[in-house]
Amino acid sequence: MERPVEIQPASGKLGVLLPGMGAVGTTFIAGCLLARKGIARPIGSLTQMGTIRVGKRTEGTSPAVKDFVPLAGLDDLVFGGWDLFSDNALEAARNADVLSRDHLDAIADELAAIEPMKAVFFPEFVKRLRGENVKEQTNKMELAEAVREDIRRFKKDNGLDRAVAIWCGSTEVHREPTDVHQSLAAFEEGLRNSDPAISPSQVYCYACLKEQVGYANGAPNLTEDLPCMVELSRETGAPLSGKDFKTGQTLMKTILAPGLRARVLGIRGWFSTNILGNRDGEVLDDPESFKTKEVSKLGVLETILQPELQPELYGEMYHKVRINYYPPRGDQKEGWDNIDIFGWLGYPMQIKVDFLCRDSILAAPLVLDLALFMDLAQRAGMSGIQEWLSFYYKSPAHAPAVYPENNLFVQLSKLKNTLRWMKGEDLITHLGTEYYPE
Ligand SMILES: NC(=O)c1ccc[n+]([C@@H]2O[C@H](COP(=O)([O-])OP(=O)(O)OC[C@H]3O[C@@H](n4cnc5c(N)ncnc54)[C@H](O)[C@@H]3O)[C@@H](O)[C@H]2O)c1
Repeated sequence: MERPVEIQPASGKLGVLLPGMGAVGTTFIAGCLLARKGIARPIGSLTQMGTIRVGKRTEGTSPAVKDFVPLAGLDDLVFGGWDLFSDNALEAARNADVLSRDHLDAIADELAAIEPMKAVFFPEFVKRLRGENVKEQTNKMELAEAVREDIRRFKKDNGLDRAVAIWCGSTEVHREPTDVHQSLAAFEEGLRNSDPAISPSQVYCYACLKEQVGYANGAPNLTEDLPCMVELSRETGAPLSGKDFKTGQTLMKTILAPGLRARVLGIRGWFSTNILGNRDGEVLDDPESFKTKEVSKLGVLETILQPELQPELYGEMYHKVRINYYPPRGDQKEGWDNIDIFGWLGYPMQIKVDFLCRDSILAAPLVLDLALFMDLAQRAGMSGIQEWLSFYYKSPAHAPAVYPENNLFVQLSKLKNTLRWMKGEDLITHLGTEYYPE
């Protein structure tokens, strides 16, 4: 791919549209508003707090990421979205019970002004929810047209040139691609015929891309990784990325597994279990939605450990993931891992991880980074799947010919090298010239 000669400036306001304004969506919006006012800091966001080394180590140049590439500023973001419940962002944030009363009171008026637009919703795709704020059209093409109209109105009302969408909605039931997803023409025909294989998230994704709005998928839904969506993305220049925010237990897994593999320590078993009690947990209590999540969570170790290359270390590993809905915990998930490893001469050892995390606190900065980087990609003329954003996902969408990259550290260097490449800087390979003189 050609390096962009010019990245369009991030001038004007950027719309951030969220299909799904629940715990993650409102924690993200509230966090941006609080950071804007200087009340709290956007910790966990690479675009806000991260740095990037440029040039040789001896030069000591490490600008902030946001000074290195032209990103939209926090003050330039305008928030909107869709939900099947009509609660405004303040009410939804209160229900989600993630942020303190003090924090919500400080931005109450701004949050209350954000009202969700009517959702595209087919109950067979999320079985545990029923809401009243749902579009009435029944034909799927008409629904897509209605979402397009929402986007145009939102941009016009807020004087926006650009917008980006991040799916923060519930996890849909597990589905495999069908013929309707194999080309844009087949998908459009399917929309007109209301093909049952077309999900709500696919309707949003299609509508966004048609309106030149990039689409990032925070859930494990079958959406952006479909030939029809990639074709449309190439046609309109709006980028895609996905899928399933990498937070909590999977984040830990992709931090630990590369380390164990680096030391060529063997792994015999990895048992992961969680308790969580938010609405996401309730949706995942449905076996069909859990199946979508399970596929996303199980894939990561395979590609990091590559058992086919080292069968004696990883070939017999037993990997199990469980999610248990436990209402008393709310958003404050607890994830336990038991890892059975073995070392020198095959002697066994164990690692136990008990991560008392906060799901939405970990996910919110990812929403912000994805919004800003997806917008950057579009201004740099990059369409299709943005593999360099794999860093943010449990189940990174990837080109058919390659395996997904799940190692967090490889993902980070890929992301940073892409930023260097965009700016025409040398890529960093960590081959020290002090030992290998040019
Ligand atoms: N929090 C994390 O750490 C994390 C990590 C990875 C993925 N995720 C995924 O992010 C998503 C959001 O998580 P959450 O904790 O905010 O869940 P949540 O249940 O609090 O919010 C999801 C919202 O989406 C809405 N929704 C469902 N279908 C919709 C549709 N078709 N159109 C519009 N709105 C719709 C629901 O009404 C709900 O308000 C979930 O799919 C979850 O699996 C979260």
